[in-house]
Amino acid sequence: MTLTPARITRREDGTPFAPDYDDVYHSSDGGPAQAREVFLAGNQLPARWAGRAVFTVFETGFGLGLNFLVTLNTWRNDTSHCERLHYIAIEKHPLTRTDLATCHAAWPELAEEAAAQQAQWPLPLPGHHRLHFFGGAVTLTLVFGDIADVWPQLDMPFDACYLDGFAPARNPDMWQPALLRQCGRLAAPGATLATYTTAAAVRHALTAAGFNVQRLPGYGRKRHRLTAVFNPPAWQSAHAIAVTPKTDARQALIIGAGLAGAAVAERLASRGWQITVIDALPAAAGGASGIRAGLLHPHLSPDDALLSRLIRHGFLYALATWKRLSDAGHPLSGRCDGMAHVAQNQLNEAGMASTAARLGLPGEYAQFMDRSALSASCGLSLNAGGYWYPQAGWMAPATLIEALLKQSGANRLFNCRVDRLEQHAGQWQAINADGAVIAQAAVAILANSHDAARLSPFAYPLQRVRGQLTYLPGSALPGLRHAVAGPAYAVKTADDMLVIGSTYSEEDESSQVSAADHAANLAMMGKLFPDHQNIVTAPLSGFTGFRAATADHLPLIGALPDLDAIRSLGLELAGQAVDNMPRRPGIYGALGYGSRGLLWAAMGGELLASLIHGEPLPVEAPLAAAMDPARGALRRMRQGELP
Ligand SMILES: Cc1cc2nc3c(=O)[nH]c(=O)nc-3n(C[C@H](O)[C@H](O)[C@H](O)COP(=O)(O)OP(=O)(O)OC[C@H]3O[C@@H](n4cnc5c(N)ncnc54)[C@H](O)[C@@H]3O)c2cc1C
Ligand SMILES: C[S@@+](CC[C@H](N)C(=O)[O-])C[C@H]1O[C@@H](n2cnc3c(N)ncnc32)[C@H](O)[C@@H]1O
Repeated sequence: MTLTPARITRREDGTPFAPDYDDVYHSSDGGPAQAREVFLAGNQLPARWAGRAVFTVFETGFGLGLNFLVTLNTWRNDTSHCERLHYIAIEKHPLTRTDLATCHAAWPELAEEAAAQQAQWPLPLPGHHRLHFFGGAVTLTLVFGDIADVWPQLDMPFDACYLDGFAPARNPDMWQPALLRQCGRLAAPGATLATYTTAAAVRHALTAAGFNVQRLPGYGRKRHRLTAVFNPPAWQSAHAIAVTPKTDARQALIIGAGLAGAAVAERLASRGWQITVIDALPAAAGGASGIRAGLLHPHLSPDDALLSRLIRHGFLYALATWKRLSDAGHPLSGRCDGMAHVAQNQLNEAGMASTAARLGLPGEYAQFMDRSALSASCGLSLNAGGYWYPQAGWMAPATLIEALLKQSGANRLFNCRVDRLEQHAGQWQAINADGAVIAQAAVAILANSHDAARLSPFAYPLQRVRGQLTYLPGSALPGLRHAVAGPAYAVKTADDMLVIGSTYSEEDESSQVSAADHAANLAMMGKLFPDHQNIVTAPLSGFTGFRAATADHLPLIGALPDLDAIRSLGLELAGQAVDNMPRRPGIYGALGYGSRGLLWAAMGGELLASLIHGEPLPVEAPLAAAMDPARGALRRMRQGELP
């Protein structure tokens, strides 16, 4: 899964050059001008995005990001630009941030855009990376990986396409005719395409994919360039991609003011939605999100399994979100400057070492350390070695939820328990036990944890898993500099409180803090820190909460299923993919965050907002499908067990 970073040199005239491909990154006759003429004008931009709510540009070969910077700059200076611009780009060899900055320095006219791109430049990790610009109006989704692997998995229709690999003769992988057929699969009606090459094989492949191809005078020394319009024959035009239906009524009610609900509120509000957040309790963060501090860290598996890939998304997107909120002036209480993940035993430690070696991850993401190095990093002697995650750490959820709600400008209706939801004339009404309407909107989002299935059943049980935290004065573990996780976790908060957690019980229904669970937490501490076997300070205080866990450890994020329709269609649906399950209109879930609310919340908010608003998704289609709330209904229907 290691990505090979770009190797970049200069030609005599200063043009960035890739020795491994024996080709230049852009025309020696001028990079920005080439981008404007070949790629933007070739797609009739900016004219074609005028007046559009969402417009999507797709690029093969992100490289230095020059085409992106020019597009961003054009969008910024265009008074009739589309409301939201999505730019999706594939890249196999990401540049280092330093190389990027060196290349960008050649274009002072793009300095502002370049600085914004460099500031958010992701770690070289495979998969999708979503970056936001200009308050979120422009979104860049970078897909790091080999085009042959990642393009067929993309499910995002484009309006304009820039084909910009190195020259076909030098970089044939980028121009395989079979691969270029993806252009036809992903082109939205009326889509256009542009490239600098006029190679016959490329023209033929595009024509076969349903494009009308035209040769125009080329840029600089090039004789010709290519533009194309998607105009497939009738038999070919049935669109493989389901374009998400979107609503023009940008009003939503969200039930639940925990991590899940607050994050969705903020992401929808960034798209101009008016949000009402309803909670049964008198204040936000009153449910499981009331933990004083929780951890945020990656998950590694030797085969980079689906869960690890999704957690990678969640982790990176959460970090970026927290930075964005903090930069916007919201006071967050948390620290993500390193965290230790201690092995449970010798066998586990050996497994961690071999997984790290096998994955070859960038050290800024995760690295294996032996016991003495890991202990030195955290400031206390640990029982074993394990992973060091340099960007991981902890967060006080209440401060994050407050920041998200404030940023969203949501109307908060607290002390209001939703008894039922009813849909009248396209509006979802949240109704209390007295039959009064609390609020109504075209879209309803259930972020109310265990109570959600009562309001709109989805046939995937959420287990109630009780957990207890123990709170001690920070002096109980002197010297601890960073959060530590393993058989238990320990975090020192900003107000010098030591948070120790946490128990995990599916049987215990008590919401009272118990002495037995404190004892269990303290005993687990002994397994992390051998020199601190008997931390006892009295009186002990703590917190209990109930996680909403799923059997497959993945959250439920997306449109909620219509169980009646699934039941009546029955076996007709059995062979279908989960995204083809019938849905109830306008009702969505952000549920089942289990023990990872801090990790799923930001990504879940962006995924749901993208789905609802009809935009490209922030994650690979198979990963979105794995979190689909209809998966339980599909499985149970196939097994003949749908209640
Ligand atoms: C002990 C413990 C330790 C944990 N440690 C971590 C950790 O280290 N890292 C991490 O990422 N996660 C951790 N978690 C998990 C994390 O706390 C949860 O995943 C997260 O808080 C779930 O957020 P939520 O918004 O889905 O649910 P909640 O925070 O429970 O919010 C649901 C809200 O819905 C409201 N509600 C319910 N029904 C209704 C209704 N009918 N009408 C109106 N309102 C309603 C509730 O009042 C509540 O406010 C821990 C959890 C526990 C219990
Ligand atoms: C001409 S450069 C792109 C320049 C870029 N569009 C810009 O504006 O700066 C071609 C890019 O394609 C990338 N590339 C080459 N082979 C690839 C592959 N198999 N999959 C994905 N990207 C690839 C290269 O790493 C390089 O960054």
